[in-house]
Amino acid sequence: MRIDVVTVFPDYLAPLQLSLLGKAQEAGRLEAHVHDLRAFTTDRHRSVDDTPYGGGAGMVMTPGPWGAALDAVLAQGPEGARPRLVVPSPAGRVFTQDVAAEYAADPWLVFACGRYEGIDARVLEDARSRYDVDELSIGDYVLFGGEVAVLVVVEAVGRLLPGVLGNAESLAEESHTGGLLEAPTWTKPAQWRGLGVPDVLVSGDHARIARWRRDESLRRTASTRPDLLARLDVDGLDRADLAV
Ligand code: ADE
Repeated sequence: MRIDVVTVFPDYLAPLQLSLLGKAQEAGRLEAHVHDLRAFTTDRHRSVDDTPYGGGAGMVMTPGPWGAALDAVLAQGPEGARPRLVVPSPAGRVFTQDVAAEYAADPWLVFACGRYEGIDARVLEDARSRYDVDELSIGDYVLFGGEVAVLVVVEAVGRLLPGVLGNAESLAEESHTGGLLEAPTWTKPAQWRGLGVPDVLVSGDHARIARWRRDESLRRTASTRPDLLARLDVDGLDRADLAV
């Protein structure tokens, strides 16, 4: 997968080179390019914003540098390709594990990081002729800009790419896969500060362990995220689930 990020703070994206995402790039499973929006300005002050039409607080990012940056990024990819343009915004559709899975199937994601009060609306209108545009929110709160949202999205998507996670089974069992939160986990030592480990987990009875974990998942989801439980497909539940 190819990823391009356009931002006025390229240093914010440095974590893309770290840990498992860094390894994914070394292994050639992910290719990330970060572009400084100011490189596409034409004035002496390298300005990227101006006051909003209609008045109001704050500044709006001007269309000129954005248009040039998105043209240049497009020209760097394969001829005729139509990337997805992800624009982080608190006004976008909400990012979930399902959206991460959808993005993981895309060959090319381009992220446009807005700052201040956002980007002039014509930039996205114009980009729709060459990109599949997605405004995306990582939750109901407001950040200074889109950079941290990009890190969140790239980490969630990157770990779904084939060969990035060492153990593919951990994908199948984790929270939000299948609509439930994951059961709590324990490791050695067997006793710590007077606290033990649930007997079932040291029983060696794998069917009982699987059932116990599933019950804990259902209880945890019911208690902290009843909204998720309400959305579960009833056909996917078995009789033991319904008894929890
Ligand atoms: N930019 C500012 N707030 C944001 C949010 N909640 N999600 C995505 N991008 C943002």
